[in-house]
Amino acid sequence: MTESKFELGDRATGKKTDLPVRAGTIGPSVIDVASIYKDYDLFTYDPGFGVTAACDSKITYIDGDAGVLLYRGYPVEQLAEKSTFTEVCYLVLYGELPSRRQLDEFTNSIQHHTMINETLLRFFNGFHHNAHPMAMVSAVVASLSAFYHDSMDIHNPRHREIFAHRIVAKMPTIAAAAHKHSLGQPFIYPRNDLDYCSNLLHMFFAVPCEPYQVDPVAAQALDLLFILHADHEQNASTSTVRLAGSTGANPYAAISAGVSALWGPAHGGANEAVLAMLEQIGTVDNIPKYLAMAKDRSSHFRLMGFGHRVYKNFDPRAKIIREMCYKVLARLGRSDSPLFELALRLEEIALKDEYFVSRKLYPNVDFYSGIIYSAIGIPRSMFTVMFAIARTVGWVAHWQEMISDPHMRIGRPRQLYTGPTRRDYAEIGKRS
Ligand code: SDX
Repeated sequence: MTESKFELGDRATGKKTDLPVRAGTIGPSVIDVASIYKDYDLFTYDPGFGVTAACDSKITYIDGDAGVLLYRGYPVEQLAEKSTFTEVCYLVLYGELPSRRQLDEFTNSIQHHTMINETLLRFFNGFHHNAHPMAMVSAVVASLSAFYHDSMDIHNPRHREIFAHRIVAKMPTIAAAAHKHSLGQPFIYPRNDLDYCSNLLHMFFAVPCEPYQVDPVAAQALDLLFILHADHEQNASTSTVRLAGSTGANPYAAISAGVSALWGPAHGGANEAVLAMLEQIGTVDNIPKYLAMAKDRSSHFRLMGFGHRVYKNFDPRAKIIREMCYKVLARLGRSDSPLFELALRLEEIALKDEYFVSRKLYPNVDFYSGIIYSAIGIPRSMFTVMFAIARTVGWVAHWQEMISDPHMRIGRPRQLYTGPTRRDYAEIGKRS
């Protein structure tokens, strides 16, 4: 990477320092500020890490102003049109599109790691039937570490690869088991003759008492949604996985931490919150009332599925999913979806409103995805689990990139302390 210098000067002392500036292949360069605590007794301050590069990465590039998203350099639009989720998993994990032989071997490996240990299935019986599936998924993912002592040396590349294949393969099985538990229905085992998304739908919707035929329209729609959700640079859940993994914790624990971070409504939980919001709004006539609430900070109501820390233009994924809604709803005979109509009108009205325009608040990946999940029969409580299934490959790729970096250090941010200065203990009778 090319380097230049950024002069930092302290007016009070007249002291000046040249800080290294490092350029990546595309996107903003970075100022390396590591020396400023030693040289100036200063920390940098950036709550929310809005302008802080926490690492180098070769996986995903986002240009928020231009609405660009690249996985290993490939535009997400092209991958959405020409690839499959399994192929995108290979690309995100290994950095290159696979040859036919590599793809066949990878697909075969994933298909033969889909089962979970039989005793793990009993974990689900410990949950109440109405437990949120994200609670079940995060708990069971963390528990996987109890079953794989033979391949947990994080410094062994083969162990890392086995972990990657296992967790990508098992997430749909764990998700489907959570869904079946909430229904009180028997678990459905994975089938090795089905592709990734067809297998997921089979495990979700098949029942032992009659044959189940996967709808190819639903499988294709899910595959496309998973491609669009596979990775997204240093988002909150990926940063959580990196931070947890930086302590040397086992990778299942790190991924479980990512599942928990994704659950929040400001992050992956937004897709579930969008549907609840659309049902709350109910009709087009109510849109102005709810937009007014969204603009009123004191209302604590936000337009879920709108806004993004990085995209200050249309989220490219939202555009693709919106177009997909038309096709999937039509092919499923659901073109008259009132929630989709309401979402389209809400977007149209909001994007003419100065509040949203001036703050560059556009629909994000979560705004339309729930429309499709609903149309293919996924219950709303499972929407964020769908997001977690797809994002697992991104989390794993970032964890692998970090762990295999010889310069990796434990993540340990500092703070601006604004609490009490030193004071002595006071006996209880002498306190004010
Ligand atoms: C994901 O990071 C990623 O890459 C995430 C993700 C991924 O793939 O991993 O893309 C997935 O998490 C998408 C985001 C899903 N979340 C939502 O849809 C929830 C609703 N959106 C917001 O809560 C919010 O927009 C965030 C959390 C997404 C971004 O928050 P920021 O960057 O901290 O923005 P902010 O809160 O500083 O907002 C700036 C202004 C504020 O108003 P002012 O103080 O300037 O008056 O915009 C307002 C905010 O009040 N604002 C909104 C709003 N989002 C921001 N006002 C109403 N509705 C909203 N949705």
